[in-house]
Amino acid sequence: MRINIVAGNWKMNTTVSEGVKLVSEIVEKSKDLSNVKLIVAPPFTHIYSVCEKLKGTEIGLSAQNCASEEKGAYTGEVSAEMLANLCVKYAIIGHSERREYYKECSEILLKKTKLALANSISPVFCVGENLNEREENRHFEVVRKQIEEVVFNINENDFEKIIIAYEPVWAIGTGKTATSEQAQEIHAFIRKVLSEKFGKKAENTSILYGGSCKPSNAKEIFAQPDVDGGLIGGASLNADDFIAIAKSF
Ligand code: 13P
Repeated sequence: MRINIVAGNWKMNTTVSEGVKLVSEIVEKSKDLSNVKLIVAPPFTHIYSVCEKLKGTEIGLSAQNCASEEKGAYTGEVSAEMLANLCVKYAIIGHSERREYYKECSEILLKKTKLALANSISPVFCVGENLNEREENRHFEVVRKQIEEVVFNINENDFEKIIIAYEPVWAIGTGKTATSEQAQEIHAFIRKVLSEKFGKKAENTSILYGGSCKPSNAKEIFAQPDVDGGLIGGASLNADDFIAIAKSF
């Protein structure tokens, strides 16, 4: 059975004290939530303090990234092992902002994915096309390639731990959202591509939608059969909005 997930990607926002306040509010307001797994992905600097607030709750802690190397002379990097040691259970890998601004290619993303999995961290692997690619009707081809180059290179047991996030770049932080039909179409396509390699196991993969998801549009998007939740940016910085999105199931 696949699970519904609403994950908040805080990106490079909040100080530690603001982040602790935000997560405390999320913990408080999520007490009566059922039927959905909540995950928060604060910046690295907040991980320890947020972890303390999440103790005894069902809310999962995610990193927004992890290093592509195991350890050693990689100044400024944070390894999967370091994160696992701080009760991090998920890591966002391949976010379009990392692909675009930090030139992370599939080769690097595969290394990150494998290291996360080796440290019992579930990758939230992001795929999605940019506006040009969508307008040229190449979104299926782009997303297929992103999946084949990384996800197809992990073994079947590890595949069970992967979460996919479909985030059309043209919808991220723009206020534009994919229509529920567009989301369903490509989520079903992603599941089909996954099933070519992993068969029926793809039925159990949670595929999240990301891109200007908010309380006002989440219900319609989450109602689609192949949309299993959301990866939320801006709206996850407000506890009421984040919880309202999670209540949209
Ligand atoms: P927004 O919800 O701000 O559009 O961001 C989506 C996203 O990139 C989540 O990872």
